[in-house]
Amino acid sequence: PSNQTILITGGAGFIGSHLATGLVEENDIRVLDNLTSGERSKIPQDATLIEGDLRDKDTLERATENVDLIFHEAALVSVQGSVEAPLTSHDINATATLELLEAARREDARVVLASSAAIYGHPDRVPIEESDSKTPASPYGIDKLAIDHYARRYYDLYDLETVALRYFNAYGPGQTAGDYSGVISIFCDQAINDDPITVHGDGGQTRDFVFIDDIVQANLKAATTDHVGTAYNVGTGQTVSVQELAKTIVDVTDSDSEITYTEGRDGDIRHSGADISAIQADLGYEPTVSLFDGLEQTVDWY
Ligand code: UD1
Repeated sequence: PSNQTILITGGAGFIGSHLATGLVEENDIRVLDNLTSGERSKIPQDATLIEGDLRDKDTLERATENVDLIFHEAALVSVQGSVEAPLTSHDINATATLELLEAARREDARVVLASSAAIYGHPDRVPIEESDSKTPASPYGIDKLAIDHYARRYYDLYDLETVALRYFNAYGPGQTAGDYSGVISIFCDQAINDDPITVHGDGGQTRDFVFIDDIVQANLKAATTDHVGTAYNVGTGQTVSVQELAKTIVDVTDSDSEITYTEGRDGDIRHSGADISAIQADLGYEPTVSLFDGLEQTVDWY
């Protein structure tokens, strides 16, 4: 996209801030963020910050006024948090997103929104195709599935241009190692400090880790594609076990950390991985960063 007025919700967060940085030179960027997990310092200088809550009607109206395009990345991303507070997750991840779709309808703005592999729950098979069964295993997954469906129906019912991107395990520089962040940021933090690496369970569980540059790539392609009213997996098509990941991170950081095995996480998904043929065919998306290179870039950022 160029010469557009673009709203990025969650633009001070991990994915949103990378998108803002990639788009700010050629577009007018508005960031809506309440800065609870997002950080002001991640927002590029020339972007305009609207500090506030997506659930606030006036804030949403101000943020969406005259926009051409919306990237919706704001969310409560903690799966565990959604188990502890399902209503809060629903308010933000589902209801506020529906309000955003309504606002987009008023403005006739395209919406590219963050869906999640969490909508598949415990998958029947890996790699997962978009049409595979969806039985989310958490309130978070249920909320993401709801907005994924709404996105498609807003196209069918109201001609609103939408693309839902089902992110698999995103990682990269800028993902901070708090309680609720992804395993890569946790392991990198532990390895750099020579602390024990905490593998949950036997480490045989597998994931499709997708580097932030490729997440951004998928968003940019979704912003201009003719394939609207659609939903795509965003991953690499490759998986790695958590144990293998731990070893690779120890190598990349040249760490003295010991790899330890702690109790398995309740409800942990055993195997997850994306079939990416649809996004490759329709959007021309291709993963460009290998896990090893992505980990090196992530570690360099610390
Ligand atoms: C992740 C996302 C979730 C998204 C989902 C989609 C995060 C925090 N969660 O969940 O928002 O919807 O993918 O697929 O990004 N692990 C350890 N040790 C640790 C931490 C984790 O062994 O210290 C293991 C977990 O048990 C799990 C794997 O690493 O098997 C990945 O965990 P995590 O990064 O939390 O991601 P998901 O559970 O896949």
